[in-house]
Amino acid sequence: MPFTANRQFKSHPMLLSRAQGMHYFTPDGRQVLDGAAGLWCVNAGHGRREIVEAVSAAISELDYAPPFKIGHPLAFAAADALGPLLPPGFTNSFFVNSGSEAAETALKIARAYHVARGEPDRIWLIGRERGYHGVNFGGISVGGIPHNKAAFGPLLQEVDHLRHTHDLGRNAFSRGQPAHGAELADDLLRIIAERGSERIAAVIVEPMAGSTGVLPPPKGYLERLREITSEHGILLIFDEVITGFGRLGAPFAAERFDVLPDMIAMAKGMTNGTIPMGAVAVQGHVYEGMMQGPIGTIELMHGYTYSGHPAACAALMATLKIYEREDLFARVRSLETYWEDAVHMLRQAPNVLDVRNIGLVGGIELAPLEGRPGVRGSDVYRRAFEGGLLVRVTGDTIALSPPLIISEPQIEEIVEKLGRAIADSSQELA
Ligand SMILES: Cc1ncc(COP(=O)(O)O)c(C=O)c1O
Repeated sequence: MPFTANRQFKSHPMLLSRAQGMHYFTPDGRQVLDGAAGLWCVNAGHGRREIVEAVSAAISELDYAPPFKIGHPLAFAAADALGPLLPPGFTNSFFVNSGSEAAETALKIARAYHVARGEPDRIWLIGRERGYHGVNFGGISVGGIPHNKAAFGPLLQEVDHLRHTHDLGRNAFSRGQPAHGAELADDLLRIIAERGSERIAAVIVEPMAGSTGVLPPPKGYLERLREITSEHGILLIFDEVITGFGRLGAPFAAERFDVLPDMIAMAKGMTNGTIPMGAVAVQGHVYEGMMQGPIGTIELMHGYTYSGHPAACAALMATLKIYEREDLFARVRSLETYWEDAVHMLRQAPNVLDVRNIGLVGGIELAPLEGRPGVRGSDVYRRAFEGGLLVRVTGDTIALSPPLIISEPQIEEIVEKLGRAIADSSQELA
């Protein structure tokens, strides 16, 4: 099992066997409120029949088509359907099957783009501490989570990291974007001075770091990164695997923060979690930059057997229709203040070091037990689940990211159930 204590799991398994709307159900019939959209995926809520039916129809018609040197109409229709959601200037998308593949693909496109343009020395890839870009070798190299690298030997060498932006001293209990930290983007200037701007291919960041505990970008930070990268011919990649498809109240965080990267990696909410799918969307100048060499040249020596699979394309198009018809991204904006006030109530729970929020995301950072980091977080996670609430935990931070269809009473229920889990855990672990 992924990211799971496999042997321990068997002695105390947690299982989900059914889902509908805002809820999961366990095999013994217990109802669990989904405070995590599964794993940041199920933005339109569970059990959407029209996605099931679209997938079924698509694979009844065409079960599979090889994507190398040949296409099928649904893949182009899916790319066209995605187009209007992308920020201005984005012209093309490359389909993959997961967030990890999207991140990996974006890094490879960055290097290949510079090769195609005659700057093959631009090979350095810059990530950020506490960044998560999936689990493949490129992604863990630019990623900033030491535990995820420890067992896997040498990674990409031409990689450097910006410092992370988490600053409890100055920003604890911020609502929305924290006030302090824009200057951390200037770390890139230090790296440029050390490595040479003409050797740097790309910077990759999550506009809001999700997996390492919900870190909204400080005000002005992304703008500054964009300024420096543009000045030095460095591509800026936003990993929007979590922030894409409405999580922050806009199709992408790029639109929410009004900062335009050169590439966007996406997955998760793309198909409402139903069928594995990801994509890298690129600005026109990236696409055009890659279209070099005599006609007949394969411009990008990269791709997957299941790139643009008919089932995934059908799921994407049906999902986008739901997002649009139910205006779910605007719904996030209209719920955001209510959500913010509700999650900040958790400040009163014991051992809470910070509450942070943006869009329909909340992070509650708990004080670690002395010498046992992560134990309190795991205990709260399990208690919340037993009390009928699914959350996400990383270390001692609880992340909340419910489906965008959530109601106000359900927001109250999340806060009440999580508050109880934190209080009970504090008593037990005191
Ligand atoms: C920002 C980001 N990038 C990449 C990934 C990896 O996605 P996947 O698990 O689909 O490979 C994730 C997953 O949580 C993510 O949050």
